[in-house]
Amino acid sequence: MHRKSNPFFGFVLALALFCSVPALANDSVQLPAPQTEGGKPLMQALKDRMTIRAFDDRKLSMQTLSNLLWAAFGVNRPDGRRTAPSAKNWQEIDIYVAMPEGAYLWDYRKNVLQTVQAKDIRALTGTQAYVGTAAVNLVFVADYSRVSGGGADKDVLVGADTGFISQNVYLFCASEGLATVVRAGIDRNALAGELKLKPEQKIILSQSVGYPKK
Ligand SMILES: Cc1cc2nc3c(=O)[nH]c(=O)nc-3n(C[C@H](O)[C@H](O)[C@H](O)COP(=O)(O)O)c2cc1C
Repeated sequence: MHRKSNPFFGFVLALALFCSVPALANDSVQLPAPQTEGGKPLMQALKDRMTIRAFDDRKLSMQTLSNLLWAAFGVNRPDGRRTAPSAKNWQEIDIYVAMPEGAYLWDYRKNVLQTVQAKDIRALTGTQAYVGTAAVNLVFVADYSRVSGGGADKDVLVGADTGFISQNVYLFCASEGLATVVRAGIDRNALAGELKLKPEQKIILSQSVGYPKK
């Protein structure tokens, strides 16, 4: 028997499907707006800042990831300036995010993760055994097409700019009870290939974040 379709049921089904899919398109994931209130007092976070290299299996929620990225290098003023300083306001550091589901470029303006690899490349973000076990690995990539003007050693300034972002991540993790370790030990050629970097882009450091192993 042919059953007559119920338009209300169809509407509810379409709404349910729409709400359950976080992806904007096949190649991007919209993060929730960052929560920029709360956390530990600064002096307490400084007391708790440390490197931890042992990670639990637990994933970070999309909300925690959004908060982490905002703390790292989000926009904190109406003129578009960020939570970390950068030489000449170059804002040359992009953050790539490697998770079990894939690797993404964080579009900080839209708070969207743009897929660059639909596979797990976490282990490639370092050379040590713990790297592949961290829920999230951030990769700090300098885009030298934004690095302009003469004078000071550009690599020094790019390194300094990356350090500020890394310390923001350290303090966020200290505040949230997360484990983190920044590192220089990376097979940069292999990782640059997987991240599909252009010649003017250079990997500076990477940083693992996850829940500490109990
Ligand atoms: C620029 C830089 C590079 C680092 N590279 C690595 C690394 O490749 N592997 C690693 O396990 N830790 C790395 N670390 C973490 C340091 O070993 C760690 O910060 C140091 O032992 C001090 O410990 P603390 O952060 O708990 O004070 C690096 C830290 C910095 C600042």
